[in-house]
Amino acid sequence: MDEKGNYDYFTIKEINEEPKTVENSLKEKENVEKIVSQLGDIERICFVACGTSYHASLVGKYLIEELIGIPTEVIIASEFAHSVNTLTKNTLSVFISQSGETADSLEALKLAKEHCKTLSIVNVANSTLANEVNYTINTFAGSEIGIAATKSYISQLICIYLFVAYLTKNNNENDGNEIFERIMNSLDNLKQFIEEILPIEEEIKEIAEKYKDVNSFFFLARGLSYPTAMEGSLKLKEISYIHAESYAGGEFRHGPIALIEKGVPVVVVIPKDKDNEMYNDYDKSLRVLKEVKSRGGDVIAIGRCDDEKLKSESTELICLNEKIDPIISPLTYVVPLQLLAFHISLAKGLDPDNPKNLTKCVAND
Ligand code: M6R
Repeated sequence: MDEKGNYDYFTIKEINEEPKTVENSLKEKENVEKIVSQLGDIERICFVACGTSYHASLVGKYLIEELIGIPTEVIIASEFAHSVNTLTKNTLSVFISQSGETADSLEALKLAKEHCKTLSIVNVANSTLANEVNYTINTFAGSEIGIAATKSYISQLICIYLFVAYLTKNNNENDGNEIFERIMNSLDNLKQFIEEILPIEEEIKEIAEKYKDVNSFFFLARGLSYPTAMEGSLKLKEISYIHAESYAGGEFRHGPIALIEKGVPVVVVIPKDKDNEMYNDYDKSLRVLKEVKSRGGDVIAIGRCDDEKLKSESTELICLNEKIDPIISPLTYVVPLQLLAFHISLAKGLDPDNPKNLTKCVAND
């Protein structure tokens, strides 16, 4: 039976298990390599998932399209039926799920199997999803009791990065090996980076106390960081019941910015890329951040510790080691957001493990 050990809640225990999760999920390396070598010609990839697993899938899309150029889309499982006519035998449908029993995903899988190859990335090894696909990757996060997915999200991302790394090696004749090495080296250092992030919890508690009574939060980011903003927003809604919305930084100007007024907290996920690479559009994110500030909003930035410009522009800066390669920023920048949601929930006197109206697995449609 799972115990809370020294923790009061499973959610915080599971966040603290993330370094161990990194180690466990990386054990899938060989299996992922084998699967990628067997896939054959893939012209299109179609991720199918719900909730947090949907956000992990979006990270996959950004990576695959930018690094390899295979057209990739992410479809919410409950909407998948409307896209079935686009599937061909050279499409790979990738089903991502913690439980492997989410009804919408199982329903979508039935349809996908009639048209294309199927792969699953699941945490529960003997689940229906894992058993019904052509290929399966296990995330090895171990059992997750908290309703809010935390360590399982990290484990899904690791498997996606492994998948992308081997796909890159097989598909890019020129720079494939370089990108492969870069991802693998970053994954090797990941455990240590997450261990370093966890003690930020003390700082985050203070921020949680300051913002626990607001009615609404916004989360903004661009490019590869956008799914992190979406996940931060979902975590907060789920366990603190605060209305939260996420937007791609550019899109925020097309309407939602009208809602910014004095004191509205806006979390901006903004890892600085060394040479202003494509991954997170740093300069453009900084411009949106300044617009929020000039309208009186409070900017809670998640960025690099050596980013002086960001420090001077934000109300609060939660900072992470500048040595984290931006290519793996989704694996690290989400951790402070999980901690923020957890501590806002506690500060409001709620039970983060058991949010109202939610179950761990949505097993009926
Ligand atoms: O088990 P699955 O990954 O298929 O579940 C999908 C969603 O129901 C799940 O991620 C949900 O959004 C989580 N409670 C989020 O924390």
